[in-house]
Amino acid sequence: MMKLVFATHNKNKWREVQSMLPEGIKIITLEDIGCLAEIPETASTIEGNALQKAKYIKEKYGYDTFADDTGLEVKALGNAPGVYSARYAGEAKDNEANIDLLLANMQGKEDREAQFKTIFALCLGEKSYSFEGIIKGQITHHRQGTEGFGYDPVFLPEKEERTFAQMSAQEKNQISHRAIALRKLVDFLNSEVEK
Ligand code: IMP
Repeated sequence: MMKLVFATHNKNKWREVQSMLPEGIKIITLEDIGCLAEIPETASTIEGNALQKAKYIKEKYGYDTFADDTGLEVKALGNAPGVYSARYAGEAKDNEANIDLLLANMQGKEDREAQFKTIFALCLGEKSYSFEGIIKGQITHHRQGTEGFGYDPVFLPEKEERTFAQMSAQEKNQISHRAIALRKLVDFLNSEVEK
């Protein structure tokens, strides 16, 4: 049995990820290892933040660890909010305020192209790895749908007719940026378990 810490305090993420992992891989929570503090996220890129979180736990607690970080990159805004997606409209990390600001900044813009990017970083033994998941789409002009979280009501994935917030969690989890990155991580872990 391979045991790994998933460096997140977010229980929803934890559940989603555990449900996608094969039987031979078990997640240990931050609570299990006695880490109740917030993990620093001060890097200037999504990749940097994911790696910073995984390394922090590996170095401080000694466990093999993985961590994720996600951002929404909007082309017409120079790839903002990107690594600052959670706090786009301020430190309160208010999803509604973030969407309001995004829609205001997109007013009058014809190019509505955007993408969600997730990186899973893994510190295993002495090595570190990263796995990327990207989903392209468009920023809508108005909110549509009430499911999901974050920017879901204004993100219309490519080749879809509904925003992420108009899909069930199950539908979103089949195609999302996080699912794509997570599948790459799982494939890698499976190959390590088989070694
Ligand atoms: P985190 O790195 O997963 O905490 O994500 C940072 C921020 O990106 C969140 O606070 C949300 O605003 C946004 N975000 C991440 N994943 C999603 C998603 O699946 N849908 C909508 N917004 C997301």
